[in-house]
Amino acid sequence: MRIGAVDKYFGATQVLQNCTLDVGDGEIVTLLGPSGCGKTTLLRCIAGFWDADAGRIEIDGQDMTPVPVNRRPVGVVFQSYALFPHLTVARNVGYALRMRGTPASEIEARVTEALRTVSLEGFESRYPAQLSGGQQQRVAIARVLVMQPRVLLLDEPFNALDAKLRSTMQVELRQLIKQLGITSIFVTHDQEEALTMSDRIAVMRGGRIEQAATPDEIFDRPVSSYVADFVGTSNFWDAQAEAGQVTLPDGQSVETGLSGKVRVMSRPHNLRLAPEEQGPWRGVVLFQRHIGPLIEYHVEMPDGATIKVAAIRQDRVRPVRDRAAVSIGIIDSAQVSVFAD
Ligand SMILES: Nc1ncnc2c1ncn2[C@@H]1O[C@H](COP(=O)(O)OP(=O)(O)OP(=O)(O)O)[C@@H](O)[C@H]1O
Ligand SMILES: [Mg+2]
Repeated sequence: MRIGAVDKYFGATQVLQNCTLDVGDGEIVTLLGPSGCGKTTLLRCIAGFWDADAGRIEIDGQDMTPVPVNRRPVGVVFQSYALFPHLTVARNVGYALRMRGTPASEIEARVTEALRTVSLEGFESRYPAQLSGGQQQRVAIARVLVMQPRVLLLDEPFNALDAKLRSTMQVELRQLIKQLGITSIFVTHDQEEALTMSDRIAVMRGGRIEQAATPDEIFDRPVSSYVADFVGTSNFWDAQAEAGQVTLPDGQSVETGLSGKVRVMSRPHNLRLAPEEQGPWRGVVLFQRHIGPLIEYHVEMPDGATIKVAAIRQDRVRPVRDRAAVSIGIIDSAQVSVFAD
């Protein structure tokens, strides 16, 4: 699928600006960005609920512009599942096929197959109110899969689920989509969900796609401080670039194509603590946050900023006391990002 230079206005307000994104067959691409950045609007343009004001959307090489919403080979799973409460699971899943006049025997076979796909065989005659949140979500997915779409669009499908079920469903749904090989666009504003679900992530900002890349690239080589800040934990500080070099606070230097005032970013896992006298970049440990196998140290710097340093529990040579005076070292200066803004 190809999204080419799509613009969308609501009145005089431009909500999508030159959005371009190629999605490979069977690929899962996530649109990630804050509320109001245009994620749902882009999905609605792909599905055909909205007409784009410029640009085009192609599926299997075919321009979708003249194709009405009910003829597009696209299935949409919304945030609210919108199951019909008065219809059984089987009738919910078969609803769109019945509307199309598909023969009853074919509907039954396809509904059975779709429910098997989402591991809900045996639930045919239950009503939505008799299902858990996760089961209702799976019915909503089956209802879309039964139409055999070429492209699956999912708009924050897990929002109604609690955290634990949500993370289980992320893994399940990714495996299911990969097994079926359906080209998919997934929308979320949750960066961890994006990292779990996606082959590639498109980070959106104010109606534009700021970076589209694999989760690793987005995390390790963000193109801007906006992307670095949105995905993963980051430490930022200001610096001055001179003669193509930026001096880092621990005394190392790193090359950059930029000059003048820059912003430097390091992930917490690229930093390590050392005794105070071992380096010039000094601060005081404010507290230690235990996140599973990781320990995140919050170090207060003399200027009041907090720098986060992460260590794997086993790597901790000796316990660090709270309020301990420490110095921070950068493990690999090549992993530091330098931004103009
Ligand atoms: N029908 C509409 N008429 C006018 N403005 C709209 C309409 N739908 C959306 N917008 C505006 O377009 C912008 C993008 O909205 P959109 O729903 O695409 O955001 P989103 O990224 O999906 O946000 P969220 O994460 O909150 O769902 C917002 O500023 C919104 O107010
Ligand atoms: Mg939305």
